[in-house]
Amino acid sequence: MSTLSAVPQRRPQFHFTPAFGWINDPNGLIYYEGEYHLFYQYHPFDLIWGPMHWGHAVSTDLVHWTHLPIALAPDQNGKIFTGSVVADLDNTSGLVPGGGLIAIFSYDTQAQGIAYSNDCGRTWEKYTRNPVIPSPGRDFRDPKVFWYGPGSIWVMSLAVGDHIEFFTSSNLIDWLLTGRFGESHGAHGGVWECPDLFPLEIGSETKWVLIVSVGDGSIAGGSGTQYFIGHFDGMTFHNDTPPDTTLWLDYGTDNYAGITYNGVPDGRSVLVGWMNNWAYARKTPAQSWRGSMTVPRTLALIDVPGTGPRLLQQPVAELEQSRTLLVDLPAGVSDASTLRFNDLNTTALDIIVEFRLSDAEAAGLTIFADDAIITVSVNRATETLYVDRRLSGDVNFHEGFACLHSAPLLISSELVKLRILLDAASIEVFGAEGLSVITSQVFHSAAQFRFELFSSKGTVSIEYLRVYSIH
Ligand code: FRU
Repeated sequence: MSTLSAVPQRRPQFHFTPAFGWINDPNGLIYYEGEYHLFYQYHPFDLIWGPMHWGHAVSTDLVHWTHLPIALAPDQNGKIFTGSVVADLDNTSGLVPGGGLIAIFSYDTQAQGIAYSNDCGRTWEKYTRNPVIPSPGRDFRDPKVFWYGPGSIWVMSLAVGDHIEFFTSSNLIDWLLTGRFGESHGAHGGVWECPDLFPLEIGSETKWVLIVSVGDGSIAGGSGTQYFIGHFDGMTFHNDTPPDTTLWLDYGTDNYAGITYNGVPDGRSVLVGWMNNWAYARKTPAQSWRGSMTVPRTLALIDVPGTGPRLLQQPVAELEQSRTLLVDLPAGVSDASTLRFNDLNTTALDIIVEFRLSDAEAAGLTIFADDAIITVSVNRATETLYVDRRLSGDVNFHEGFACLHSAPLLISSELVKLRILLDAASIEVFGAEGLSVITSQVFHSAAQFRFELFSSKGTVSIEYLRVYSIH
C-alpha cells in the first residue's frame, strides 16, 4: 500500500471515481445500444499504479455512472494497457456474429491485442491468437480505432515514442502500416501517448483533429495534452498548423490521456480525460481510491480571427439536467465587490458568470473551502485567465503542486464569460466559451464552498450570474 492521506477524502459528486483503487486513462469510450461505456486503466487492489486491468462503468447520461465488474484482466500475454472499443456491427472480425463490441488494446509488452463481447460489454473473450500486432520492443501503444466510412476500413492511431503511426484493417485482426506523423511537430518534452483522430466541422469544411498526450514538459508542467488540426487522407494525418506551434487542450495540470467517444448518436465529439498528472499522480492525497476523470466535454472547432482554427470545449449538455438553480442575479446592476455567496451547502457547483471589466484591471472569484482558498481571475492587461491553487488545502505532497495556472484569454469586448465547475476535489474553468480551459485538482476537507467576487483597480459590472448545485 502507498501512504495514506491525513485529510479526509471527499468523494467527487459528478466526476467519475472508482469505488476503490487506482485509476488512470479512460479507455474504450463508446456509445452502444443506449449506454455510454467508460473503461479505464485500473489497479483494483491498490492505490498506486500496478498490474493494469480495464475497469468498467456505464451511464445513460454521462453524469450518473454504474460500476460494473472488471472487463479485462492481465493474461499470459501481459497486463492490459490503454486502448479503444468499436462496434463491429457487420462482424468484419468474424468474432461477433450478429454484431458486437471489439476492444483493441496494448499489452504492457507494447504488443496489441483484441477482445470481443457479445453482451454489451458485460463479458469479454480475448482473441485466442493475440497479439494481433507484435511488440517492436519500444514504446508502441494506446490504439484508438474508428471506422473510416469513405475508405470502408478500420483506422488505428498508435503512439510510437515521438510520433504517431496509422494502421488500417478490414477485419480488426490484420493491420497494415499506412502512415506516420509527428517527429518534427508539436511538443516533445516526453513520450507521446494516447492519440485520437477524429473529424470536426468548421463552417462548411471538415477538418481532422489529432489529439496527442505528452508525458512531460507540457504547458502547465508535467504531462499534458496537445492537439493538431489538419486533414486525413485515409492513410495518414497532415498538419495544417505550423510545425513549431503547439496547441494545448488544457492550461491546467490535470487533463491527460483524454480520448473521444466512438459512436455518439448525434455525431458529437465527447472527450473524457484522466484528471491527473503523471508528475504527482502517485502522491495525491487518498484513502480508498486515487484518481478521477474530467467532466465529459463536447468539442467543436472555432475560427479565431488572426490566429486560425482552435478547439472549444464545453461540459456536455447532459450536465444541465442534474442541476438545481441556487442563485440568479438580475443583469447589469451589480458591483462585483459586494457579492458574497455563503451557505451553499455543497461542493458540487456550476457557476456561470459574465462580467464587464469596465475600468478594472482584474476581476474574479475567491472560493473558500474552510481554510483553503482557490482563486479564479482574469487580468485585462495580460489577457490571461488564472486559477490559483497555491492555498487550496493539502498542497505539500509534491513540490510543483502549489501553483498558479494561467491561460491566454481573448478579452476583445471587455465582456468576460466564465463557466466554473467545482467538485469536492477539482475545479474546471471554461473561459471564452471554452477556448481557454484550466482543469485542476484541489485537496481540502471542506464539506461546502462559499465564494465572493472581487475586482481590482476599478469596478466590474456583473451582466449574468447563475449558480447551480449539481447532484
Ligand atoms: C498514459 C499511459 C499509456 C499506457 C497506460 C498505462 O497515461 O502511460 O501510455 O497505455 O498509461 O497505464
